[in-house]
Amino acid sequence: MNSSWYGKSILIAGITDRSSLALAIARHLQQLGVQLICTGLGETSHHANLSEKSAQFLRKNYEDFTDTVAQELGPDVQTAVLDVTLDGSVAELAEHLRRKGTKLDGIVHAVAMDKTIRGGFAKNLLDVTREEFAGAMDVSAYSLIALTRSLIECEVLAPGASVLSLSYLGASRVMTHPYKNIGVAKSALERITLEMAQELGLRGIRVNAIRFSPYAVSKAGAAIPGLAEAVASCDSLSPLGNARPEDLARAAAFLLSPDLRITGQILHVDGGYSIGG
Ligand SMILES: NC(=O)c1ccc[n+]([C@@H]2O[C@H](COP(=O)([O-])OP(=O)(O)OC[C@H]3O[C@@H](n4cnc5c(N)ncnc54)[C@H](O)[C@@H]3O)[C@@H](O)[C@H]2O)c1
Repeated sequence: MNSSWYGKSILIAGITDRSSLALAIARHLQQLGVQLICTGLGETSHHANLSEKSAQFLRKNYEDFTDTVAQELGPDVQTAVLDVTLDGSVAELAEHLRRKGTKLDGIVHAVAMDKTIRGGFAKNLLDVTREEFAGAMDVSAYSLIALTRSLIECEVLAPGASVLSLSYLGASRVMTHPYKNIGVAKSALERITLEMAQELGLRGIRVNAIRFSPYAVSKAGAAIPGLAEAVASCDSLSPLGNARPEDLARAAAFLLSPDLRITGQILHVDGGYSIGG
């Protein structure tokens, strides 16, 4: 255990299964001595009019999440359900943590979803509906605001806490594989990172993001058409080859580490790929 992490608690949002990038970060933080609180997407009392198919998906997702946390991080790690698109679910989580007297020293936001990517196909931006656009923005960008605000309002986020989200080079560049609608949402996430860094700096809270290498192993990554080919080409074009989940975890721990005066930064953890072109 590293003494500077002693007694620190960090919320991890975005583990689905063993392939989730958030799990690599959680594992590393746990090795440093951090107490983890992990949230997973599942059915909540705030969902209304769910179809049986959606309810089944949410129940299975939450079961996979709790199994993964118990097996990979241990049965004592706290878990909670969270759908970041539902204000009631976000508020319930914050209230639950407040009642338990939890003080969070950090948040890892590793959450994204874009319904225009389906069955190995991504819609062109001109075909994206208003609802699909807003949906990707809601889950993948606005949720960082909603979650952080709720935790601050319930006095769960400690002064000096660090907020970190995961982004991708496709936030600012047109990639060789389609990243269309979700790319726009990632741009918003990064812009939110800068504005929140300014606003929350007054409370001593830091807000940063990491742009990670393409990673086709996770569920979100595997769904993106052409990502496996991009993994191979980025690997050959990056000076160091693609960054690994362990590199992401170490960079995340650095940005989350206590008493660090770094905020509003978008850090490339990509083996140097982003310096090219
Ligand atoms: N895979 C990549 O190539 C790559 C590269 C750079 C950044 N990222 C980012 O890393 C983060 C984690 O992605 P990953 O690749 O580990 O995939 P993943 O599928 O394991 O993680 C995505 C997570 O988002 C969660 N989620 C979706 N909708 C939600 C909702 N409404 N409420 C709560 N949670 C919800 C899912 O349950 C899942 O846990 C994402 O932000 C992703 O964009 C991924």
